[in-house]
Amino acid sequence: MPSRSWFSKALLPWYTENKRELPWRNSADPYRIWLSEVILQQTRVDQGLEYWKRFVRRWPSVADLAAASEDEVLKEWQGLGYYSRARNLRAGALQVIREHEGDFPRSHTGLLKLKGVGDYTAAAIASICFDQAEAVVDGNVYRVLSRVFGIATPIDSSEGRRAFKMLAGELISKEQPGDHNQAVMELGATVCTPRNPDCIACPLWGRCIAHKEGRIASLPVKSKKHVVRIRHFNYLVIRSAKGLLMRQRKGKDIWQGLWELPMLETERSATSSALLELISKSLGKSAGTWSVKKTSLPVEHLLSHQRIIATYWVCEPVGKWRSPDEWKMVSPKELKKLAVHRLMERWMEKA
Ligand code: ADE
Repeated sequence: MPSRSWFSKALLPWYTENKRELPWRNSADPYRIWLSEVILQQTRVDQGLEYWKRFVRRWPSVADLAAASEDEVLKEWQGLGYYSRARNLRAGALQVIREHEGDFPRSHTGLLKLKGVGDYTAAAIASICFDQAEAVVDGNVYRVLSRVFGIATPIDSSEGRRAFKMLAGELISKEQPGDHNQAVMELGATVCTPRNPDCIACPLWGRCIAHKEGRIASLPVKSKKHVVRIRHFNYLVIRSAKGLLMRQRKGKDIWQGLWELPMLETERSATSSALLELISKSLGKSAGTWSVKKTSLPVEHLLSHQRIIATYWVCEPVGKWRSPDEWKMVSPKELKKLAVHRLMERWMEKA
């Protein structure tokens, strides 16, 4: 096989010259690197930076994060989405403390055993903190490699995943694996962008097959069509002199552990009478009688695989009723402390 050291040789000096100055780039502390990588899987650097700083200020070490409650971590994560990542961060921190006496495992396989740490995160920590030649493959890496090497194998097929992982492993610098991994991702994030890449600024420009063959816009290839599930969420706005009724989401669905108004999901958009019937049904014997005072226009909220259509119903009980145990009346002051999802936050900003 021809040597592919040109890749790293061109990329590493470019990285040294052009990398963004980020606080975790001056650190080899696996806790700080782990946190940065989990945040960056979720968002761009400009937004993620603020979250990272807040986390590190509040929980400077892995032991501090392990001692935090899940609610506190969710609240700090609020707005980033994919809340299982926040729950896993805390669970992983607990594991490091309980099973490894506070020291992160140093190998890729050891890291993989931590809660929520997959191949990508394990490779990032192993290379950046422990100089192990483990190649990371994320969306940026798929884009850079598919273009530079002109590879049209779909990145969401098992064949594609295997091929790109192997190629990334052949390319990685054994001397500077951490910088190499970050350089490929940095190139993907700042130069080899999905649309309008800045090819003139690219250190791999002369080698890039997609550029030579005019295939930039068609790479990388994805085979599956993105299926989006549409869901209708009916939120009940039930106020009293003491405050507002809220409940914490439980179970395997989205937003587990976050707070929201009591919600009834329907197959399609509901009418007032259908909603009243549903309230009676779901509250059972203790439902009493209800009236709808006001209905909002539907609000759309887009997640990666779901489109939520939310309607807010201002409801009032007529006479006696009993609220389910898991619904809590919260004061405006308490409300501010609860971890809520972005859709709820949008409603709270307006209400
Ligand atoms: N995206 C995710 N992790 C990154 C890193 N370490 N450097 C640049 N971009 C990234």
